[in-house]
Amino acid sequence: MCGIVGIVGSSDVVHVTELLLDGLQKLEYRGYDSAGIYVTNDQKQEHLIKVKGRVADLRNQVSDDVQGSIGIAHTRWATHGEPSINNAHPHVSENGRFYLVHNGVIENYQELKAKYLSNVNFKSDTDSEVAVQLVQYFVDKDNLTTLEALRKTVSLMPDSAYGFLLIDNEQPDKLYVAKRRSPLLIALGDNFNAVCSDALAMIAHTNKFVELHDGEVAVLTSNSVDIQDGNGNHIMRDPYTVDMDASEADKGAYEHYMLKEIDEQPIVIRRHLTDYFDENKEPALEQSLINEMAQADRIYIIAAGTSYHAGLVGKRIIEKLTNIPVEVNIASEFAYNYEIISEQPFFIFISQSGETADLREVLNRINKDGYSSLTITNVKNSTLSREATYTILLKAGPEIAVASTKAYTAQISIEAILAKALGMKLNNFTAQNFDLFGQLSVVANAMQALIDQKDKLRNIAEKYFVNATDAFYIGRGIDYAVSLEASLKLKEISYLHSEGIAAGELKHGPIALIEKGTPVVGILTQENVVALTRSNLAETQARGSKVLTIAMKKFAVTNDDIVIDDVDELLTPLLSVIPAQLISYYTSLAKGLDVDKPRNLAKSVTVQ
Ligand code: M6R
Repeated sequence: MCGIVGIVGSSDVVHVTELLLDGLQKLEYRGYDSAGIYVTNDQKQEHLIKVKGRVADLRNQVSDDVQGSIGIAHTRWATHGEPSINNAHPHVSENGRFYLVHNGVIENYQELKAKYLSNVNFKSDTDSEVAVQLVQYFVDKDNLTTLEALRKTVSLMPDSAYGFLLIDNEQPDKLYVAKRRSPLLIALGDNFNAVCSDALAMIAHTNKFVELHDGEVAVLTSNSVDIQDGNGNHIMRDPYTVDMDASEADKGAYEHYMLKEIDEQPIVIRRHLTDYFDENKEPALEQSLINEMAQADRIYIIAAGTSYHAGLVGKRIIEKLTNIPVEVNIASEFAYNYEIISEQPFFIFISQSGETADLREVLNRINKDGYSSLTITNVKNSTLSREATYTILLKAGPEIAVASTKAYTAQISIEAILAKALGMKLNNFTAQNFDLFGQLSVVANAMQALIDQKDKLRNIAEKYFVNATDAFYIGRGIDYAVSLEASLKLKEISYLHSEGIAAGELKHGPIALIEKGTPVVGILTQENVVALTRSNLAETQARGSKVLTIAMKKFAVTNDDIVIDDVDELLTPLLSVIPAQLISYYTSLAKGLDVDKPRNLAKSVTVQ
């Protein structure tokens, strides 16, 4: 959470302020309650501007004379201290010499404050300000250089997460950097070097990036990069290329990223057909991964939020095609309740961003215990990808809207491809007879047919959801897993209280919440339970609910609201979720809410 960007360049050729603001705009999905920028040059002409609000508000405050050769900027998702100008970054040391932005959480900031900084007059309530005051403290008291003081400062925060960018206004040609557990990349540009939380921030200006690892510090000038490990050894690390077209991260003609990303789902499935199948239409995945997974006596899926919901679907598909038992765990729960592990476990981490701190906590632990793992992620070279044994990329293209849509369906598609590959290796009869390639081709077309029903779904949203106070999605089996995701979509962007409920559980309590007009959506795609779920819907209708249905064609009746094309029952979540995504989108839109940046949330959750 929080987006940070820093640039050091030759001021005559590089417009540092513009690059910082553009970069910050691209990182806004990481947090958006306040923002700030600091720019200076070798004449010591300094500009510090902070706002409570969005990057656009910051941009409005930045006049043309805000120019410089070095700068840092920050867009915040508050952890310590409410969103306010004082708590916005950059923070300044008491003597006005050091400026710092931070992404992460300094766990022991209170102790550090009490031990070293009792005489300092703090201007904010943040944990972050402690870092910049400590740098000043060690430079003044111990006569350390700026780099030494930064090193000393981070050495006092062994359990914390930080990406720090620091400017010493007495050395305006150097950008100081430190990283631990918060994502940071170095970007190599023409006449400038930069550091950012995500390649998106700089992809319009360069595609050459260098990784920074935990515990490292770096000093950047406009034409040099010096990375050092925790012991001060200089690290030589080759740059890598990010293959992303800057336009992929643009909204284009769309009003919102979320709608663009919903529309892109058939394209992503077709991309999987091209990139993850061989000429015989069989899955083409890394053989060593499949060999290793085939030895597992149990698969553990670890994930959060929407990715967890994709994991619940994946469990059904993998178990069916491989007969290997699968456990799906919420990362933040599993991290601190490391349960009894089977003899031959295999771990799968599912994360769109590849940065989620809750998952990383588990991955660190299983790495220590020597277990193998796979990360399924959308972001190449992301932390979870680097630290797991294997990676499969979602290839969904950048997902910018906070509400995840195309990553969810891409995750399910990858899980199915993985399950089929593993099932084939294990000579599983069901896998051998499952034409996944053919089925995914049908899915891509069927997705499009649903996306084309926007007007109908907008009407449903406006008629039944916009004025509701509660809404429910119900289903059984795999339809229950989709109900959880459908409900999360609704609550996170339309602020409407919603639950996904196992249809058979309604009568054990939740049915008490049904009132006249409460929308209850039934998902009906599994032959063995369709009739039961219909009965459960009828029970809510008898108590006044407004029943809506999403049914697969072969089980549909004339008054079903949304009908999805027939596909294998294992793959129906790829379709049944789409009407739910669109209902959420149109509910949020009709309520006049910020669809892409819902309140209190951020896209990449790098705090625990
Ligand atoms: O990047 P990740 O997939 O690890 O993120 C996990 C959750 O934070 C994420 O899915 C979240 O629930 C989304 N806002 C859902 O739309």
